[in-house]
Amino acid sequence: MEIEDLSGVGDKVAEKLRGAGFSTVESVATASVGELKAVGLGEASAIKLINSAQEGINMGFETGMDFKKKREAIGKLSTGSKELDTLLGGGVETQAITELFGKYGSGKTQIAHQLAVNVQLPKKEGGLDANAIYIDTENTFRPERIIQMAEAKGLDPDEVLKNTQVARAYNSDHQIILAEKAAEIADEHKIKVLVVDSLTSHFRAEYTGRGSLAERQQKLNRFLHLLQRSIGDLHNTAVIVTNQVMSRPDIMFGDPTTPIGGHIVGHTSTFRIYLRKGKGEHRVAKLIDSPNMPDGECIFRITGNGIED
Ligand code: GTP
Ligand code: MG
Repeated sequence: MEIEDLSGVGDKVAEKLRGAGFSTVESVATASVGELKAVGLGEASAIKLINSAQEGINMGFETGMDFKKKREAIGKLSTGSKELDTLLGGGVETQAITELFGKYGSGKTQIAHQLAVNVQLPKKEGGLDANAIYIDTENTFRPERIIQMAEAKGLDPDEVLKNTQVARAYNSDHQIILAEKAAEIADEHKIKVLVVDSLTSHFRAEYTGRGSLAERQQKLNRFLHLLQRSIGDLHNTAVIVTNQVMSRPDIMFGDPTTPIGGHIVGHTSTFRIYLRKGKGEHRVAKLIDSPNMPDGECIFRITGNGIED
């Protein structure tokens, strides 16, 4: 279904919507009235349009039975470390957002690369027999590293690279457009992992100063809901986002760091993993605020082969 198929959307309105980044029915369905008014629609038309988009993608109540069926379709993807998988209740889940946060060098990008490889493994080897999309905002995607990890898993590295869709996001608007595009190509490319590495760097760079904080959080919030609904839920995909931490000089006891994006990111992510460096190749992963898993910690390693116990 295209946005032109929605009632009241002619070529002109469609062009306006696309220009503002609302290029899919999902994005219109999850827009707020205020956002569509900003595009130039009247209030009544905005409400009508959102409703018809929501009907179009069947976004309302469903039976408990349908809900159960959907939950049963959740796939678990191995990280490469059994310890880390156990911490997560069996691996990274589809239909969920997993946030990896920690300082530089803590292993966020390495885990993201590993998941893009592992998703291509057969299910009995901890994979999902599917493919990955990698949205790279920091220019740290490395095909050479994918090749090393693929070889270590006995996969054909060329095949693994061919099955990985990579895009560099140049700013936060581009990042949003790429996520919408990802939703469009998810089925065609059999996508079960979407990586956004990193979620927050562009937002952080573009919205500086106290005055723009609310706007930044609102946009980040919209982006996370887009990931959850149009990719996680709709395509049964595991969404992986990375997030840097910032220093909190006001915290006197405990760990004086906190993830960027604050509470909005915290409440939207289904799993949050705090990563820190240990000795040498050791890393410590801590699960935080998971809805149905106890908080806990584990140790894994980053080796030449990738993520290991
Ligand atoms: P930022 O993006 O800077 O915030 O950090 P990050 O958390 O994404 O760190 P990343 O995942 O890039 O981890 C980098 C660390 O992984 C390096 O310091 C190395 O310890 C390790 N690493 C990266 N590549 C290799 C590799 O090819 N072999 C081995 N053995 N270790 C590697
Ligand atoms: Mg990184």
